[in-house]
Amino acid sequence: MAGIGHRRGHDSSDGSVAGERTGNVAVTAWPDLADALVAELVASGKVSAPEWQAAMREVPRHEFVPKFYELRDREWREVTPESEPVRWLERVYTNKPLVTQLGELHHGGIGPTSSSSAPSLMARMLEALDLHDTHTVLEIGTGTGYNAALLAHRLGDERVFSVDIDPNLVDAARQRLRHAGYEPHLAAADGAGGWPDDAVRFDRLIATCAVNRVPPAWLRQTRAGGLVLVDLKVGTSAGNLVALHSNGDGTGQGHFLDGHSAFMLMRGETHPPISGYPQRNRRQAHRRHTSVMEERPWESPVWWFLACLSMPPGVRFGYTLHPVTEQPAAVSLSCPDGSWCEVSLEVTRDGRAVWESGPSYLWSAVEQARDIWTAHDQPEWSRLGLTVTAGEHLVWIDGPTGPRWVLPPSSSVVGAPPPGECSAERGDGGHHEQQECE
Ligand SMILES: C[S@@+](CC[C@H](N)C(=O)[O-])C[C@H]1O[C@@H](n2cnc3c(N)ncnc32)[C@H](O)[C@@H]1O
Repeated sequence: MAGIGHRRGHDSSDGSVAGERTGNVAVTAWPDLADALVAELVASGKVSAPEWQAAMREVPRHEFVPKFYELRDREWREVTPESEPVRWLERVYTNKPLVTQLGELHHGGIGPTSSSSAPSLMARMLEALDLHDTHTVLEIGTGTGYNAALLAHRLGDERVFSVDIDPNLVDAARQRLRHAGYEPHLAAADGAGGWPDDAVRFDRLIATCAVNRVPPAWLRQTRAGGLVLVDLKVGTSAGNLVALHSNGDGTGQGHFLDGHSAFMLMRGETHPPISGYPQRNRRQAHRRHTSVMEERPWESPVWWFLACLSMPPGVRFGYTLHPVTEQPAAVSLSCPDGSWCEVSLEVTRDGRAVWESGPSYLWSAVEQARDIWTAHDQPEWSRLGLTVTAGEHLVWIDGPTGPRWVLPPSSSVVGAPPPGECSAERGDGGHHEQQECE
């Protein structure tokens, strides 16, 4: 175990207790709060390995999140030890992601560009890494440095490497890590290239941002037999964590993990277009009925992911409002290639009416995915896998010889509206970008 940590504090020359104050705010309660958080994660089955329980008890998360942002009344507000001392500390030791940096988003607005992930998601990923004492690990997405500190607590500084594309984040993380007693290797670089020194090899790679494609450098810099753990997304929202066994040559294969993960997309990935979507005119569309009764197939993550694998790039979806009542009357999907569909929410004897217009029939992709998913007993994520070769990414059910899909071109899907929330398609299509939560 490396690093002095600040769990119970240690006396410094000025008589204060290091790690026990942030500015003028007493943080003496943090060990109890950390203990309570770990107890909660253990009780809910999110963490079991003693070494990760110890790391989460002993690494002071508050030193890595000196402030965070929360959305109140549609405005981002800063929460700091000075503005809300008690709430700040309690929130830091709550099982929630905390937004730690705001910036300009791809579609123009201001939103999260870095965050400290939900502790349960972090614990789940750390356990899934299956680390041994002698392993070296590369993290993509240093952010606050908290995850790097947990890794350094477990493996020692020398075995931990972490990169972030934002040099300011790396500088701040370096200082906080040092203050907490850790000195892993850090670099400011585009994580798509892995660690900047391409000669270095790792046993494990953990990405804390999502990708549309697994960069070849990750599978090349991870030794044969090593693991690459990453949130693979079609577009910005459909997909999940996958653990790939590297062949050491830029290729690999492995299964998706059960559970849910929604990391912000790695900067540099192709984002869906924000304009160029077709006007929908039902009179010019093919009309039929569907037996799919689910109003929100995107709330069934595996089915929705499989559907997205057969859709053209840039699918956005939302609701069509009734012109008089202004209540949702139909679900809509549309693509910049001119494809669109609307599916009535009204159920008749024949099912629900569908209007579809090509070149791709989008609702047919949803139906076909449902048929395959159902024919295979509605598999959970862990029955799905991914094979990455030099030329393509292949998604499969129950093995590469089972039903399989080649990953479509990047940026296929614009994010889903949060469950229960209806949004008319007004150009944002329910798009919520750069969100990370569990
Ligand atoms: C969810 S945050 C990481 C949280 C971090 N692991 C922690 O413990 O605080 C995602 C991070 O990925 C970084 N990132 C985004 N695109 C990147 C890229 N192309 N290369 C490296 N880092 C990137 C962001 O700057 C952000 O800090």
